[in-house]
Amino acid sequence: QMDPAEAAKQKAAEWAAAQVEDGMAVGLGSGTTSALVIQEVGRRVASGLRITAIATSEQSHRQALALGIPITSFAQTPHLDLTIDGADEVQEGTLHLIKGHGGALLREKIVAMASRRLLIAVDPRKLVKALGSVFAVPVEVVPFGWETTATRLREAGFECELRLKDDGQPYITDGQHYILHCDLLKSGQAAEQAAETMKRIVGVVEHGLFLGMASEVVIGGSDGIKILER
Ligand code: A5P
Repeated sequence: QMDPAEAAKQKAAEWAAAQVEDGMAVGLGSGTTSALVIQEVGRRVASGLRITAIATSEQSHRQALALGIPITSFAQTPHLDLTIDGADEVQEGTLHLIKGHGGALLREKIVAMASRRLLIAVDPRKLVKALGSVFAVPVEVVPFGWETTATRLREAGFECELRLKDDGQPYITDGQHYILHCDLLKSGQAAEQAAETMKRIVGVVEHGLFLGMASEVVIGGSDGIKILER
């Protein structure tokens, strides 16, 4: 018997993977839901689907390679047709997202921005009324002077903490940066304002607020899927 959340992810992933069509250039997301999507896309490639893909993390890249999904680069393929990714939180109504708790937010945002359509696949636990109610916003920062960058973020109203690994060392992203987990809810700021404020701070590379970027969200459930559109 599969755990209900796992079953929901699988349903969402299958529907999302079915959106991939012959000839497409596809962005491959990161996280456990995206891993299910990549698995399914790999299965379709093995049975004849012809696509090229760019992954949003080293881990997804390795998975895609192992499944024989042809990998392209932005030099060869500047525009993607479709990117499928997961999310940590999806705000009902706006489809604003928090992403990056898997640590892949920077590449995820670069790939999403290059994509005509961003499809987010989630299980129902990811839906929230207010962004930031479950998760902090991951903010990717340059390691040099991260303490002073954290001070600037605190001065701007965001309580934040350095993301650590289990061994107590700083977590390092694929881009060789650190991550600060910043509290959006306690800041009292609207997501749009918070995004602008964070982005203006020197040392901040990118943040995990994906505002107005998702074209649609597919939510898996016990009896099928539900689609949210903007
Ligand atoms: C990766 O950095 C994140 O943005 C993921 O998209 C997010 O954490 C969703 O992951 P799961 O599908 O594992 O919940």
